[in-house]
Amino acid sequence: MSKTLLKATNIAHTFDYPLFSDINFDLKENESISIVGRSGSGKSTLLHIFSSFIKPNEGKVEFLEKDLYHLKESEVEDIRCNELGIIFQAHYLFKGMKAIENLEIATLLSSQIIDNELLERLEIKETMEQKIGELSGGQQQRVSIARVLSKKPKIIFADEPTGNLDKETANLVMNVLLEYIKENNAGLVLVTHDESMAKLCNKSYRLENRKLEKIKLSSAI
Ligand SMILES: Nc1ncnc2c1ncn2[C@@H]1O[C@H](COP(=O)(O)OP(=O)(O)O)[C@@H](O)[C@H]1O
Ligand SMILES: [Mg+2]
Repeated sequence: MSKTLLKATNIAHTFDYPLFSDINFDLKENESISIVGRSGSGKSTLLHIFSSFIKPNEGKVEFLEKDLYHLKESEVEDIRCNELGIIFQAHYLFKGMKAIENLEIATLLSSQIIDNELLERLEIKETMEQKIGELSGGQQQRVSIARVLSKKPKIIFADEPTGNLDKETANLVMNVLLEYIKENNAGLVLVTHDESMAKLCNKSYRLENRKLEKIKLSSAI
């Protein structure tokens, strides 16, 4: 039996108006799950709730069997540093530094080494000596993904990771993420509005009318 990495039960959240309620979600080792939905439906908020950044109004989030919103701050920090891989749209790279230096910071903090094969697969090996500010948006995006994977996280949360990429590069990034999951017994939660990316995952859900419904995406799209 594969282990449950993330279990969310009866999640509800409201900002100015109720965003969603009764959300249940399970992620196991070796599993990739996509969440699609229209802009404003609450996808990013849900991802922040799953990943320790927003405490939901109701419900429970268990991360590796720990009740995420009842942990000590130091335990949450430890999880964020070692277990969580977060690929959000605003990628916080240090602009004045070289690409390689950005990766070194992440690997130093998590006592890992830089995986050269990963850089080759993401087609950014040649950019390593350049400053982040000199790279294209798509190259920066891939450096930030390499930085996240270099930490060897147990769960990856990705919010529109292919949003700024052309189709070919988007497919390449998706393949790297899915291979990472398999090779490391990890899990992926992918938020996207792009169903052609979403259908590459093992399971898909749609956030609509305040509910999270399981959907079947046709591979003919
Ligand atoms: N920190 C916040 N404070 C108040 N409202 C917010 C906050 N974050 C998101 N919202 C609102 O919640 C709704 C859903 O946002 P979001 O989760 O970003 O949706 P999606 O990612 O599906 O586009 C939007 O109406 C947004 O304005
Ligand atoms: Mg969003």
